[in-house]
Amino acid sequence: MANVYAKRPIVVTRGKGALVWDINNKQYIDCTGSYGVCNVGHCHPRVVEAVKRQAEILISCHASFYNDARSKLLEKLAGIAPKGLDKIYLSNSGTEAVECALKLARKSSGKPEIIALMGAYHGKTMGALSATWDKKYREPFKPLVPEFKHVSPNDLEKMKEVITEKTAAVLVEPVRGEGGIRVLSNDYLQGLREICDDKHVLLIFDEVQTGFGRTGKNFACEHSGAIPDIICLAKSVAGGLPIGVTIARKEVMSSLKVGEHTSTFGGNPLVCAAAAAAIDVLVEEKLAERANKLGNYFKGELQSLQANSKIIREVRGLGLMIGVEFRFDVLNILNKSMNKGVLILDAGRNILRFLPPLLIEKEQIDTVISVLDKVIKEEENERLPGSTSDQNA
Ligand SMILES: Cc1ncc(COP(=O)(O)O)c(C=O)c1O
Repeated sequence: MANVYAKRPIVVTRGKGALVWDINNKQYIDCTGSYGVCNVGHCHPRVVEAVKRQAEILISCHASFYNDARSKLLEKLAGIAPKGLDKIYLSNSGTEAVECALKLARKSSGKPEIIALMGAYHGKTMGALSATWDKKYREPFKPLVPEFKHVSPNDLEKMKEVITEKTAAVLVEPVRGEGGIRVLSNDYLQGLREICDDKHVLLIFDEVQTGFGRTGKNFACEHSGAIPDIICLAKSVAGGLPIGVTIARKEVMSSLKVGEHTSTFGGNPLVCAAAAAAIDVLVEEKLAERANKLGNYFKGELQSLQANSKIIREVRGLGLMIGVEFRFDVLNILNKSMNKGVLILDAGRNILRFLPPLLIEKEQIDTVISVLDKVIKEEENERLPGSTSDQNA
């Protein structure tokens, strides 16, 4: 395999709910959720059952043919999508969901320019990469797609200034994930909606990481009520199988003509059956509500760690999408936590990122907190010898 992933030295062989096991049968609480893919948990029985059933009937069916599993999914997606978003394009990943949105914006507006935010992450194919901010991803692949601009977030005046006659769309993540778990305020998102309406510019939300219950609502846009013209989804929508979803207003999506944007695997029946089951789980097990409740609890516990720590700068997030910013890089904390049975992500050099399955139990969160407490104290002792904040140490 290409050497493009920063590897963790364990072989994961099994998963169930919020837990995974390695090849030596060591158990871990998975706060990575496979990079935010496992909102319904690892191997949810309803997803497993749906995949098994569909695998025995029909695995492959190109979207040029109608298919019952795909129709069922489209109906369910339309049922939960934000109001007014009703035409759906199915692909295989987050970056593809964004590519579709970018092409839709250009095609439906007849204009070329896309405005994204500093700190944004939208994927690594050439269009999505052109909207991604970080130099380390962009520089090696220049020249990128032209007519992409980045502006600072939370500055509506700046946004008004940079939008021109050429602007097709503004593209934002309601919470920047890779960019360090930075939540855009409801005021800012509502302001963006107004500006885009005023200037006849499309508003695109990349909810690849924030969607599907993660932030405490089915979609993060529901917090502000600012509904985009196009929404991009992926990661957890198919319960762990690869999917990308782009949903747009009918007038916007109808600008694409037959053959202009397609994908061999888009709408694959096996993936659609898994996604339909995952949507049932999301709705029936009220996972968004659960993410809200448990997210508040988790954040509160992390804030208690912060209150007793000299090396934590900030705890922030929405629902079960939580970041903890440190004064130092977090590699040691990631490794030590892993050794103690807790898998965590980073989001930049000095930020821990938690994207656990939304089915995580309160007791599992308590275990994560107690492991982190120990690891952070160890780290604090190493980084700032003699200044431990652990009164009992
Ligand atoms: C907000 C956002 N957009 C797009 C992507 C790209 O998704 P994928 O890795 O499935 O291509 C990601 C991946 O982390 C993401 O977080």
